Amino acid sequence: MITARFAPQEVSPPVSSPAFVGPEMSPLQLRDVTVANRVWMSPMAQYSAAPDGKPTDWHLVHYGARAVGGAGLIMIEATAVGPSHRCTAADLGLWNEEQAAAHRRLTSFISEQGAVPAIQLQAAGRKGSHKPPWDGLGQNDPVHVGDGGWDTIAPSTVPFGDLSLPQEASHADIDRTVADFAHSAKMAQHAGYRVVEIQASHGYILHAFLSPLSNHRTDEYGGTLQNRMRFPLRVARAVRQAFPEEKPVFVRITATDWVEGGISIDEAAIFAKELAAVGIDLLDVTSGVLLRDVQARPPARDGVHIEFADALKKASGLPVAPVGQIADMSLAGEIVASGQADAVLMGRALLRDPYLVLHHRRDDHSSWPNQYHRAL
Ligand SMILES: Cc1cc2nc3c(=O)[nH]c(=O)nc-3n(C[C@H](O)[C@H](O)[C@H](O)COP(=O)(O)O)c2cc1C
Repeated sequence: MITARFAPQEVSPPVSSPAFVGPEMSPLQLRDVTVANRVWMSPMAQYSAAPDGKPTDWHLVHYGARAVGGAGLIMIEATAVGPSHRCTAADLGLWNEEQAAAHRRLTSFISEQGAVPAIQLQAAGRKGSHKPPWDGLGQNDPVHVGDGGWDTIAPSTVPFGDLSLPQEASHADIDRTVADFAHSAKMAQHAGYRVVEIQASHGYILHAFLSPLSNHRTDEYGGTLQNRMRFPLRVARAVRQAFPEEKPVFVRITATDWVEGGISIDEAAIFAKELAAVGIDLLDVTSGVLLRDVQARPPARDGVHIEFADALKKASGLPVAPVGQIADMSLAGEIVASGQADAVLMGRALLRDPYLVLHHRRDDHSSWPNQYHRAL
């Protein structure tokens, strides 16, 4: 429920914009970064990177169009923190200086449009080494070692659907992955990103450690919630230390696994509090897809994660931004006005229409690129 659907707006209008349309268009400051508005692009894998993990022309045009289109923050898709952490051979990567240099084209263009360039850092875990979704049967078909694939690691030797059987992560693997995230955060700084996001949801390695459904370990990384949080919190701490203090670090957090015996909102709230203690700046709230089963997906419902975001905001005191089935600007406005969230992330709606935010600002010439004024 958006209980405060028609509640008075508590967020003040932006001073610089003459055509204030709603609180979703007001700026949000996080550390030293001011995001011009609160409608942001959600990370969406494009499986279009060069073989060395560098972004291609596709990424420049794709992300560039959404930055021109008025989204306040552009979250670049899940980007692998090392070659063995990729989902597919066409994933973006950010583990060396050459890749960082290639990302600069994206960050400078996005910044020139007034949007904040952000990047999601990811280690795939047991969801690694598969084909792009459009290649094969459409189910992320596995690519096995020997056919160009690579070994994957996970908390336990439990596969994701029909993907390859992962190896149980050793303590050395865990230490290396923490270091990979930290190094990648440094590369993100070199690349010109102003925000990094740690992917701790959607069944990838950090989520897989958090959930008892995929983590069957008996060492200090399994069992109690305290133990299951240990690795994700180590990553959060390492990334926070590696990324400049004046720039925010987000975590994409799972609010629930939607499956009996999995993570509940109560466990997610405890994790959220720990993330706040580590210095994380904002929670990007999502859920599900730890398992292949249909029941593990979020139900089809407008703004499905809003109440979870509200709960995690209250538990942690952190700003929150829900994602999921927020497909129009009026819903985005209602969510921000309700106070249940500080911003929203949009995914598929921005795939369908890169100019969604601009359409909403038809009367405000100053938010349109000069090159397009004659269309107004
Ligand atoms: C093509 C596509 C690629 C995606 N890739 C990612 C990703 O790289 N990282 C991530 O956290 N979520 C990813 N997602 C999930 C979206 O970020 C978002 O959470 C989801 O689509 C729900 O939001 P929506 O209803 O606004 O689309 C992807 C979704 C789509 C449709």
